[in-house]
Amino acid sequence: MIHLQDVQKYYGDYHALRGINCDIKAGEFFSLLGPSGCGKTTLLRTIAGFEDITSGVVMIDGKHMEGVPANKRPTNMVFQSYAIFPHLTVEQNVGFGLRRDPRPKAEKDRAVAEALEMVGLKGFGARAAHALSGGQRQRVALARALILKPKVLLLDEPLSALDKKMRENMQVELIRLQRQVGITFILVTHDQEEALVMSDRIAVMFEGEIAQLADPETLYRLPNSRRVADFIGHMNFLPAKVAGEANGEIDVDVQGLGRCHISARQAPGGNRGEEPSVGFRPETLTLLYDGQTATDREATGLIEEVVYYGDMTYYDVKLDGVDAPARLSMRNVPGRPVLDRGAKARVAWSPSALVLFR
Ligand SMILES: Nc1ncnc2c1ncn2[C@@H]1O[C@H](COP(=O)(O)OP(=O)(O)OP(=O)(O)O)[C@@H](O)[C@H]1O
Ligand SMILES: [Mg+2]
Repeated sequence: MIHLQDVQKYYGDYHALRGINCDIKAGEFFSLLGPSGCGKTTLLRTIAGFEDITSGVVMIDGKHMEGVPANKRPTNMVFQSYAIFPHLTVEQNVGFGLRRDPRPKAEKDRAVAEALEMVGLKGFGARAAHALSGGQRQRVALARALILKPKVLLLDEPLSALDKKMRENMQVELIRLQRQVGITFILVTHDQEEALVMSDRIAVMFEGEIAQLADPETLYRLPNSRRVADFIGHMNFLPAKVAGEANGEIDVDVQGLGRCHISARQAPGGNRGEEPSVGFRPETLTLLYDGQTATDREATGLIEEVVYYGDMTYYDVKLDGVDAPARLSMRNVPGRPVLDRGAKARVAWSPSALVLFR
């Protein structure tokens, strides 16, 4: 549906997009994820046609977009600061894009009612837009974009103004909506959890470049750099030395963990000239309670910090022979006590959960 080839964008001297290459499939829920200022909005605006590119190719639905203005593109954008008209009613806001549509009024009214029902605002049509909550306004902005039946819907941080609970509700609603209408969604977010929950695929951007493009699970399990790993959830790193490599297996000496055999598949990328290290997620370490033994390998350490989250507890454990504490997460289940700070701990781990960055 969208084909981007070596897209470059300069604002004066500032190189905002540095060679973006990617293809987005029809019906895909695609997310652009990255820190503030990395170029997410710029990329979305170049797809929408609000921004000229300096060089490169943008194709939508098989057509070159060079010289095609925003209002002639099969896209619709919901802006970072969703601008709805406070003095109009909800209905008038949603129907705004249809004002020059030649269809009879009754038909347009039906389309408005349909769009409102889709975003869960049935019965709100006559309400003044200024008399809505933030989340309801958000949904009005969505309905207003959906009613134009774009092939591609561009969403720039559409949920950023909402509180956690409402955000989570809207995330589920958006996924449902996207399945229902089947159009291509491109979502911009700087919230990694939101991207993981919602997307078929995610492009992680830093400084105008795509650092990694993958499905959520690959991105989480096999980040291709320490930087991506750090941006997507928490990852522990330990210094490592590569001792040898043969038959798709890499022998690595890991601080505190000793000699490990790591599959070459678990070494997905480089680390930009830093010393080699291995990374592992908090949930790949398990605390061992009295009487339990590790199925693979075992280490010992000291619990330095305990953070209780209700469903989970996070422990910072200083493993013997390791300089920095490693974070470990345990699901809280009945009968499993939360351990105290300062307690000695036995920890189970497995080389298969390690990711090598070299
Ligand atoms: N019109 C402009 N003129 C000059 N520089 C700009 C312009 N628009 C954006 N930039 C710069 O380009 C870079 C990328 O901006 P962009 O708005 O795409 O970031 P973003 O990833 O959407 O960030 P955020 O998460 O904060 O919204 C930033 O450094 C920004 O200052
Ligand atoms: Mg932005």
